[in-house]
Amino acid sequence: MKHYDYLNDFVNIEKENFISVFKRYPICFVKGKGNYLWDHNGKKYTDFLSGISVCVLGHCNKQICKAVKKQLDNLLHVSNIFYNESQLKLAKKLNELFKLASKKNENSKVFFSNSGAEANEAAIKIARKFGNQDEKKRFEIITFNNSFHGRTLATLAATGQKKFHDGFEPLPEGFKYADFNNFESIKKVYSTKTIAIMLELIQGEGGVCIADKNFIKKIESFCKEKNLILIVDEIQTGIGRTGKMFAFEHYNISPDIITLAKAIGGGLPLGVTIIQNKLKNVLTYGNHGTTFGGNLVSCAAGFEMLNQLDNKKFKYIRKISLYFFEKLNELKQEYDFIKEIRGKGLMIGLELTIEIPNLVQNCLEKGLIINMPKPKVIRFLPPYSIQKKDIDFLIETLRIFFDKASSSLP
Ligand SMILES: Cc1ncc(COP(=O)(O)O)c(C=O)c1O
Repeated sequence: MKHYDYLNDFVNIEKENFISVFKRYPICFVKGKGNYLWDHNGKKYTDFLSGISVCVLGHCNKQICKAVKKQLDNLLHVSNIFYNESQLKLAKKLNELFKLASKKNENSKVFFSNSGAEANEAAIKIARKFGNQDEKKRFEIITFNNSFHGRTLATLAATGQKKFHDGFEPLPEGFKYADFNNFESIKKVYSTKTIAIMLELIQGEGGVCIADKNFIKKIESFCKEKNLILIVDEIQTGIGRTGKMFAFEHYNISPDIITLAKAIGGGLPLGVTIIQNKLKNVLTYGNHGTTFGGNLVSCAAGFEMLNQLDNKKFKYIRKISLYFFEKLNELKQEYDFIKEIRGKGLMIGLELTIEIPNLVQNCLEKGLIINMPKPKVIRFLPPYSIQKKDIDFLIETLRIFFDKASSSLP
């Protein structure tokens, strides 16, 4: 077996063999358990990122691993032209949860894929097909500035951040961008060709920006009035992250389509597009498909994950979130450059008025994993099992670097 001189070798192997789209930190993780990860030197890290909100029940959750191993021993993959129990169980469960959350007495339907971008791509195709059946042949989708919906060409076009578009034009047409939390701006881009409005209720990659309740209520009414499809991208916010199964439950709305990925696979690749009953006949045989989507192992992991996400877990998420906010608020009292703390449940952002160079890297050196989607926004997406002692460690560590930043201010 080859023994790598871990980091030096890995950095070189990556440089020579990979298309360099990721800026990697010089760490190689080899083990994970609960809220912690270990690198090849045995150094322990407290994880406030969960693989960007994937491993929400902690790393290597025992029951999920057991369910995965059981599925591995039976069957890895069959084509979607056959039935399999793993998908059927998860689809039924997701539809039950969606029905309950959306307070509609109608059955929803799912389409399984492998990622968030694919889940959104399916949602976009469904909206377009729905619009195509209309005599006005509507196809335009309104999305929002600062949003993030994925990296395929259509989801890139849906993403309202120019920096992701640069160099890939011409992008698929049919996307119009409005300003988040500005209802009037929707009216400005609305046309007789508009078929859908698509948004995240908390813009994650955009820096944890929360949609106002009033704004969302107005969007829902507008969609009803103009017969538009309301698509809520719950890829980052869904599956318990905000303290409820879906973030839309905080808004008391009933989206026509939601998309899921990240957490739903229990650590494995899985995307889900859930549609309300009224859209059930939009896609028919041959309109869409996937080889791997709804892989048996991912679905088995997802099903076990949902089994563990009970009311007790939600209660815990909300309780520990309160403690987290309390501690961050204490920190805010100490440092003038903390501008705002925002978020819901365990999706929390800390916006600063200054840039602190190498903050993520310095935290990693202290054994703490955080993330910064924007140069002045720290984002926390810890596993739902995060404990007070982990939060205390985070605060202590941030304090070290905030003190340093403070002392170097003019
Ligand atoms: C809200 C949202 N939508 C879509 C995506 C794309 O998901 P994926 O990377 O699985 O394609 C992401 C990923 O960060 C996301 O946060």
